[in-house]
Amino acid sequence: MADVEVRRLGPSEAQHHLDGLASVLVDCVAGGASIGYVGLLSVDEARAALRSVITELDNGRALLVAGFVGGELVGSVQVLFSPKPNQPHRADLVKLLVHRRARGRGVGRALMERAEAEARAEGKALLVLDTATDEAEQLYVSLGWTRLGVIPNYALYPDGRLGGTIVFFKQLFSSEQVGLLTRVQVETVADGARLARGERVVGLIREGTGRRWVGIYELRPGEVVNLVWSGPSAPGHLRFPSSKGLTGVAVASKATFISNDVANDPRYLMAFSSTGSEMIVPVIIDGQVVGTLDVEDERQDAFGPEDQEFFEALATALRPLFT
Ligand SMILES: CC(C)(COP(=O)(O)OP(=O)(O)OC[C@H]1O[C@@H](n2cnc3c(N)ncnc32)[C@H](O)[C@@H]1OP(=O)(O)O)[C@@H](O)C(=O)NCCC(=O)NCCS
Repeated sequence: MADVEVRRLGPSEAQHHLDGLASVLVDCVAGGASIGYVGLLSVDEARAALRSVITELDNGRALLVAGFVGGELVGSVQVLFSPKPNQPHRADLVKLLVHRRARGRGVGRALMERAEAEARAEGKALLVLDTATDEAEQLYVSLGWTRLGVIPNYALYPDGRLGGTIVFFKQLFSSEQVGLLTRVQVETVADGARLARGERVVGLIREGTGRRWVGIYELRPGEVVNLVWSGPSAPGHLRFPSSKGLTGVAVASKATFISNDVANDPRYLMAFSSTGSEMIVPVIIDGQVVGTLDVEDERQDAFGPEDQEFFEALATALRPLFT
């Protein structure tokens, strides 16, 4: 729908929209949604619940996506990252809510699609949810979630009846990719010196993706410096101005840059004459580019949209190397 907009809210934006978020929560509970409450929820209780969510956003333990119609906040969904060190790739999707007056216009679907994309970019490759709502069940099935089954007598509905819940999961990358992503996530926070961890990580990524060359660069004032690399030979430029090359484009735009034909891209800083394609993925912390993940492949047209999504999740996993 043309007038539906969805976007991720950071902690301060969520605080700004606290009243709108609270009003959606209150309305959905009043409408009978089984989302953790018995009886009616007051606006103050809803605000308190949302303040705890904002604390989680602040601490990087969750993400929140909100939906707007005509500029008014009418829906939201939360993704809560697993706090367990052995589940760095897993998250729970909870409280998909659309105000009753805005339902049936595509807001719920748009919220889900954006939440999945944001979770994927955060390296959350396995999502789990449960629902007691028929409408939501159909939505999850249509979005490719796997329905595991019903847990009976799971919770009290707002009207006091006891009811079951349906459990779903969705894996956002292939099992092979999830295996590599989790190894990288564990390695970046392991004990040991930063560069030693970085060396192991570029080795894992190169081996696990079969790409010809993988490097991690750090952004310093005015320049980009290679920290570690894995490949047949050292990078052609160990440091260069941060405005130069394909890296310069990725740094300036704070977005992934792919050249699938570097030979014909005048911005390519020649490193290896045998490179066909290069992808530069910025590592971003608190909105600032702190480094890049640089991947080269000898073939042309080596990087498609799905490769981009996966390397962006890997770049997110590199953040602990920069903190
Ligand atoms: C579930 C909910 C979020 C759907 O929001 P929505 O904005 O109305 O959903 P959309 O308009 O995007 O519809 C998406 C899909 O949901 C399903 N759906 C929505 N309303 C439906 C209805 N009344 N009957 C059957 N299916 C329905 C359909 O599969 C629909 O697919 P379509 O796009 O092909 O029509 C909303 O009904 C809601 O907030 N319910 C209460 C809260 C709740 O229970 N949330 C689930 C917690 S896990």
